[in-house]
Formats: sequence, structure tokens, C-alpha cells
Amino acid sequence: MKNLILVALISIAIGICSAQCPCSDDSLCDPVSAGVRPEFVGFSMVNEQSIWESYDWNILTTLALFYPVQDLSTDLLCLAHSKQTRIVIGASFPVNQLWNYTAQEEWIQTQIQTVQQYHLDGVNIDIEDVIAEDQQDLSALLTGFVAKTNYEFKNVNPNYQVTFDVAWAAGCIDLRCYDYQGLAMASDFIIAMDYDTQSQIFTQHCTANANTPAQRAWQGTESFLNLGIPPSKLVMALPWYGYDYTCIGEGMTLNNTVCTIKWDEYRGVNCSDAAGTQLWYSQIVDLMANQSIQKTPQQWSNQVYAPWFNYINPNDQQVHQIWFDDAQSISIKVDIAQYFELLGIGIWNIDFLSTSQSETQDMWQAVAQYFS
Ligand SMILES: *[C@@H]1O[C@H](CO)[C@@H](O)[C@H](O)[C@H]1NC(C)=O
Ligand SMILES: *[C@@H]1O[C@H](CO)[C@@H](O)[C@H](O)[C@H]1NC(C)=O
Ligand SMILES: *[C@@H]1O[C@H](CO)[C@@H](O)[C@H](O)[C@H]1NC(C)=O
Ligand SMILES: *[C@@H]1O[C@H](CO)[C@@H](O)[C@H](O)[C@H]1NC(C)=O
Repeated sequence: MKNLILVALISIAIGICSAQCPCSDDSLCDPVSAGVRPEFVGFSMVNEQSIWESYDWNILTTLALFYPVQDLSTDLLCLAHSKQTRIVIGASFPVNQLWNYTAQEEWIQTQIQTVQQYHLDGVNIDIEDVIAEDQQDLSALLTGFVAKTNYEFKNVNPNYQVTFDVAWAAGCIDLRCYDYQGLAMASDFIIAMDYDTQSQIFTQHCTANANTPAQRAWQGTESFLNLGIPPSKLVMALPWYGYDYTCIGEGMTLNNTVCTIKWDEYRGVNCSDAAGTQLWYSQIVDLMANQSIQKTPQQWSNQVYAPWFNYINPNDQQVHQIWFDDAQSISIKVDIAQYFELLGIGIWNIDFLSTSQSETQDMWQAVAQYFS
């Protein structure tokens, strides 16, 4: 009798903890059970039905939420799971708390509870804090933290996915001197953020340049593989956005190709893409199509394999230079990922397109070629 009561109480407790499945088929609330497969990780910052309805669900394997999980619509959850697409939550942890095992444990349990409550599939850890070269004890704690998170998630459900976002290259990009090899081994895979590569510009002149020169995607990938990270543990994430820079300096006209930009310090380096403004690819397409704006035709740089153009911004009447990625420049970097036989491709972020633009199809196609 006592046992029966206990069993009943436990059942009630479980019923309260895991909310009712909102999908028509209860099995759609189970974590996706697909094993290792080519990955397409789409980062998302907004739950916009007209946009997610038009994702290429044939290739999307993981949707990483960078908006409050409360805003996730159940229709999106059920659709994703019906397509064997995982949904993971983007989450961060302050490195100055890595010494604090109580804080670590609380954080891990909170993430697991959230994932269970919303019938999701894991966590994408995005920590970009400074760990200086002489802080290798802290770096080791970070690797241990990721390993522990992965271990505890897998203990609850072996299908849960735990991934970690890393800079575009190993070493100390943006003073992130992490143990990249350890992080790759401690997680299911790492996602190299092949964008914002101009966050610290060390060249003599402070000028606008491509968000992700193809060479950097190549060198960054090599830097990870040279550490002994298997390509099957590495995803290359590419940008569906660009940077708008105000060109300063005497005599700047639409005809000038070199755009000098103001200093905007980032982590000790005066010249940085912080001087620019990020624009979605769809916004850039709109700008290029706008007849009332004075601008150059789209140019192509054979130095960095990316498109750019100048225009006169109607708000400040100054020449601006925009560097971005289109289907052609994305394709080149996807080819690099293919050449190195990486696990897959990621995009920051998959909502930066407009369903009313024909270019949108080309952008998806540039990624889909990886999976054909
Ligand atoms: C460690 O983390 C716990 C839980 O977040 C917190 O209550 C405590 O104050 C932290 N300790 C230190 C020394 O920061
Ligand atoms: C830009 O170049 C075009 C073609 O060479 C020329 O006609 C025009 O005058 C130049 N504009 C400026 C502002 O230098
Ligand atoms: C960076 O900017 C600061 C403030 O303007 C200046 O004092 C410093 O000399 C600059 N550093 C370099 C390396 O130019
Ligand atoms: C074109 O640019 C002008 C000036 O910024 C703006 O007022 C207008 O709304 C834009 N047109 C379109 C179709 O985006």
C-alpha cells in the first residue's frame, strides 16, 4: 500500500514536471533520436511563422534558439520534430563563475529542466568572454564545465545534443584563449563562428573589409584541424548579414574603393568592425534595389572573395561602404567546408532573409549544395 502511494505520488510529480504534449502526436514531444549526421545548424533570433514556414526543412537539422524559449510556438516545435529537426536553446554562463561548482550545477539543472519542460533537444553554449593566455586554469574549468553539461544532459537522455560556439580560428581570437580541442571532445561538436572576423583589425590602415574573407574561413578551419580536432566535430557557421561602414577622411567619393573607418576599440584593439552597423542580407538587397539611393554597382573583391558597394546614405549624406555575403561568396566558403569534410554548416541567422526576394532562394541553395 505504502509503495502504491509512493508510485502514485511520483507519477503525479512527473506529470507536473513534464507539461502536456501540445502536438497532435505525442511522439513529437520526444527528443529527436537521429544519430550523427551531416548538420545544418540554423541560429534564430525571432519566432516568425511566415519565415520558419519557408525554411528548407529538408536540410535543417538543428534550430538554435536565441530568443526566450517562452516565445517558441508549439506549431514550430511540432513541425521541427516531425522533420527530425532538433531545437536547442542558446545559453551562456559567466566565466567568472566557473570556479563556483554550485553555480555550475544550478545552471546545468536549470537548462535540463527548461529543455524537458518545452520538449526540446539540448543546449548550444555560447560563451564569448575573455580568457587570457595566462589563465589556462580558467580555460580548463571551461572545458570541464562543458564536459559536465554534456554528461548530465546525456544522463537524462542520450539523444540530447550539447554543442559549443567558438571563434573563427583557434588561438586567442578576441582574447578567447580557450582549449578548443578539449571543447570539441567535451561536446557533440563545436560551431566555428566564421563571421565578425574584423572584430580586431591589426593592419596599418583602419579600413572596411569583408565580414568573412574566404581565406579566413580556410585558415580558421585549418587551425582547428591542426589541433587534432576531427572534421566530424566541426561545423562552419556563415553570416547571412553584412556590415555598413561610414567612410571618413578627405575626398571620399562613391568612386573610391578604400573606405577608411573611424576607430572603435574592441578588447584593446582600436580598429574594429564595431565601427560598422550590421545589416541583414534582406535589408542589403532592398538597399541595392532602391532607385532613389545613389550608389555604385555591386563590386566583387578578388582579394577576399566577397561583394561590396558604396552608396550615399540619405540620412547623413556621407559615403558608406557595405560588405556582405551573397550566394556566390557563401558558396565559396561552403566549398571549403566540403573540402575539409566538416560535419556541416551553420547560419547566423536563418531569419535574415525576406520571403519576397528572389535572392532568398539562392541563399538557401548555396547551403543546400552541401547536402546534395
Ligand atoms: C556560487 O553560486 C551560488 C549559486 O548561484 C551563489 O549563491 C553563491 O553566492 C556563489 N558563490 C560565490 C562565492 O560567488
Ligand atoms: C566617378 O567615376 C565616373 C566614371 O569614371 C566619373 O564620370 C565621375 O565623375 C566620378 N565621380 C566622382 C565624384 O569622382
Ligand atoms: C588607441 O586609441 C587610444 C585612444 O585614442 C590611443 O591613446 C592609443 O594610442 C591607440 N593605440 C594605438 C595602438 O594606436
Ligand atoms: C528607398 O530609400 C529612401 C531613402 O532612404 C526611403 O525613404 C525609401 O523608403 C526606400 N524605398 C524602398 C522601396 O525601400
